[in-house]
Amino acid sequence: MAISTLGLAIGVGLTVLVVLAHFSTGTGWGPAQDISDQILERRAETVPETEFPEPMNRAIGAGGGAATAVPAGEAGELQEGEGEAVEEDDGPWTLSDDEAETVEIEFAKEGETIEVKENETLLDAGEDEGWDLPYACRQGQCVSCGGRIADGPAEDFVVHDDQEMLDEDELGDGYTLTCVAYPQSDFTLETRETP
Ligand code: FES
Repeated sequence: MAISTLGLAIGVGLTVLVVLAHFSTGTGWGPAQDISDQILERRAETVPETEFPEPMNRAIGAGGGAATAVPAGEAGELQEGEGEAVEEDDGPWTLSDDEAETVEIEFAKEGETIEVKENETLLDAGEDEGWDLPYACRQGQCVSCGGRIADGPAEDFVVHDDQEMLDEDELGDGYTLTCVAYPQSDFTLETRETP
């Protein structure tokens, strides 16, 4: 019976506490006010006005800036160098076999003179003969395929398609990158030669 009385007392006590908590005024805490609009407005005031259309990614809070800004000027006006047609790729490599002239190249170390179309690289022409000529990138970006034109400056005899390795002096000494060299006239080539 004593236990029942104690349990009843505890139950009543808890009920009173819950009722008091329900009607209390609390701590006065409430969620913070959303001030994001105010911040955006303040930032907008600090961004200078421009006379040109804003690029899409220069919206407030989205980054962007000078690197992405459209140059000043009249709407639709092209700036210097802008909108110019890309120079056409009109090297001998664009010629069809019917259009391409044929020249005679003496491969000195191989001991043969062969006919090569001007739309074919020296390396390809040599490989077509079955010669195991050196190469790596086949894009004019190393010197693995290097050779030397014995008759004079390389660019008097070949057109290079985008070679990036030989400087003016080396070209002047007759060095060529056979993987990107298209012959323009007859000459003697020493393969496996690099500056
Ligand atoms: S193979 Fe690399 S430049 Fe010719």
